[in-house]
Amino acid sequence: MSRRPHAQILEATRRALDAEPDATGALTRAVEILKSAVSDYTWVGIYLLDGDELVLGPYVGKPSPHTRIPLGRGICGAAATEKATIIVDDVNADARYLACSIETKSEIVVPIMRDSEVLGEIDIDSDRPAAFGPDDRTLLESVAALLVSRLDSRRA
Ligand code: SME
Repeated sequence: MSRRPHAQILEATRRALDAEPDATGALTRAVEILKSAVSDYTWVGIYLLDGDELVLGPYVGKPSPHTRIPLGRGICGAAATEKATIIVDDVNADARYLACSIETKSEIVVPIMRDSEVLGEIDIDSDRPAAFGPDDRTLLESVAALLVSRLDSRRA
């Protein structure tokens, strides 16, 4: 697996967000940086909570059929409902999984939270089984924390 040190990725993201005045532009830069920094990250996207649905925002990778996900559905819906990061080593063994690509083997979903309010989430798929570990969780939860200041509250 080729990857830059996570501290470098986080710092690059921080700099890019500081330089990007537009909120959507900031989310776009974040997904671009993550996608290019870690070769195992096959699909990187951000969903934003709109009422009781997660709506797909900026992403890098193949188009997903899941552009709106109700909170009760998918691994994305589960992470938002549980307000916790979910790592799935084998998506085909998880009944919650909503397929995006036949090649996807593992997934991580990290809520973007302001206090206890879910604003959205970072969703990353990998073509490699069990591609996500504690270091990915730490990196992505740090990126999610950076993104909070760029997002509005979107209460139902
Ligand atoms: N796999 C997700 C759906 C989104 S796609 O991966 C882009 C889920 O189970 O919620």
